[in-house]
Amino acid sequence: MVRRQKTPKWLEAARRRGPGEGSADWLARALGRAGVLPRAEAEVALREGRVEVDGRVEREPFAPVRPGQQVRVDGRVCALEAPVLALMFHKPAGPVVHGSDPEGVGTVFERLRAVLPETLSGYEWLAVGRLDRDTTGVLLFTNDERLVRHGTSPQTHLAKRYVARVEGQPAEATLQRLREGLVLEDGPTRPAGARLRAPDVVELTLTEGRHHQVKRMLAEVGHPVLALHREAVGGVVLDVPEGACRLLREEEVREGLGFRA
Ligand code: URA
Repeated sequence: MVRRQKTPKWLEAARRRGPGEGSADWLARALGRAGVLPRAEAEVALREGRVEVDGRVEREPFAPVRPGQQVRVDGRVCALEAPVLALMFHKPAGPVVHGSDPEGVGTVFERLRAVLPETLSGYEWLAVGRLDRDTTGVLLFTNDERLVRHGTSPQTHLAKRYVARVEGQPAEATLQRLREGLVLEDGPTRPAGARLRAPDVVELTLTEGRHHQVKRMLAEVGHPVLALHREAVGGVVLDVPEGACRLLREEEVREGLGFRA
């Protein structure tokens, strides 16, 4: 019989509260956020007995850690206070935005790691939302769960600008339907920006991020998507070559994404 381990109450509460509020966090996550070791490597270090909290070896990745506690990895004291960082990555077509990769097609996390500068390789990079495997363009990563929530919450209304090459040539009346909102199987879409860049190329700006939303909206109006690219999230416009990444400046996170820690 498989026994499910019960999540400790403090961990459930810490997950709900998120980091940075003076509360306990869990050790492996705190190490990843602070750029000490990405989470999987932190878990290995913990299992191998290389991590100490206040002078005692700690092996449990979910062990609580509070501000003011001293954490050492391989004998070196590590600061766990972490700035909120965000990266822009230019996703190529192919890799999936999933941790697991049963089909062996590669993940964006592997692609990102391959081009990360050494100074950023100690962080755990979380994807801010998803793009389909065949979608290209800007994908944001961050070390902070709060920025993930901000970027993906339906309440934030952060604009995402897409460019889609479609079958056929959409008429003005079709663009107007996209602007006003359509009813999809999971409900009506919010008003959107829609215009033509070429007879078969639609620029669509959405302020929500439902599953396959661009493809579903364009299919609904009779113009299935042939190729999809995301060129901006909020005020952050893609400006790195395919497969490359760069760190966002503080004001890009604050003003461009509207995020304040
Ligand atoms: N909408 C889609 O249909 N696919 C994406 O990858 C992103 C938005």
